[in-house]
Amino acid sequence: MHMSIERYTFVGLPQSEGKKALTFGYRTGQSDAQVDFPIHCGEVQIGHCGLDGILYVHGRCNIVVNIWDEAHRRKGIGTKAVRLLLEYARDVLRLHRVAAQIVASNVASLGLFHKCGFQDEGRLREHQFVDGKYEDMIVLGYLLEVGA
Ligand SMILES: CC(C)(COP(=O)(O)OP(=O)(O)OC[C@H]1O[C@@H](n2cnc3c(N)ncnc32)[C@H](O)[C@@H]1OP(=O)(O)O)[C@@H](O)C(=O)NCCC(=O)NCCS
Repeated sequence: MHMSIERYTFVGLPQSEGKKALTFGYRTGQSDAQVDFPIHCGEVQIGHCGLDGILYVHGRCNIVVNIWDEAHRRKGIGTKAVRLLLEYARDVLRLHRVAAQIVASNVASLGLFHKCGFQDEGRLREHQFVDGKYEDMIVLGYLLEVGA
């Protein structure tokens, strides 16, 4: 597998969250099928976001956002991350669609992707084994040219 270390930082940042600078950092070394960006608040990394399963032949990928520290959740950081990743997928990677697969009980993530314009596209029944039980997965999609 070809490994590349490409340095990329999102345009228009840092932004401030309270008094601390919030930055979506440099793209880290990944395979061609995956990109990942650390999210920092001041000096501290509070999460990461990225795209994986990138398939250029079909123009698609999956999106992941994770704010590790609960104190930083519900402040709009996830929304900012999703919007920047959609921009990156469209303008830098030149992809066509982005998908998210979310466990049905994960109301925060479903709310996040709905807020960012993702459409519900399907339900995979008992697809994921979580905390001792099978859970359904919701498949959401976003067409980059359509913007929803
Ligand atoms: C999902 C996650 C990334 C959201 O990040 P965030 O920075 O808190 O999201 P935002 O503040 O931008 O919120 C965006 C929307 O998501 C929804 N939302 C976020 N947290 C929510 C919660 N606890 N309950 C219900 N809805 C929630 C709301 O609709 C919110 O919009 P609003 O604030 O205008 O009502 C964060 O909760 C997280 O890291 N969770 C654990 C990891 C995970 O499940 N990742 C998803 C797999 S890809």
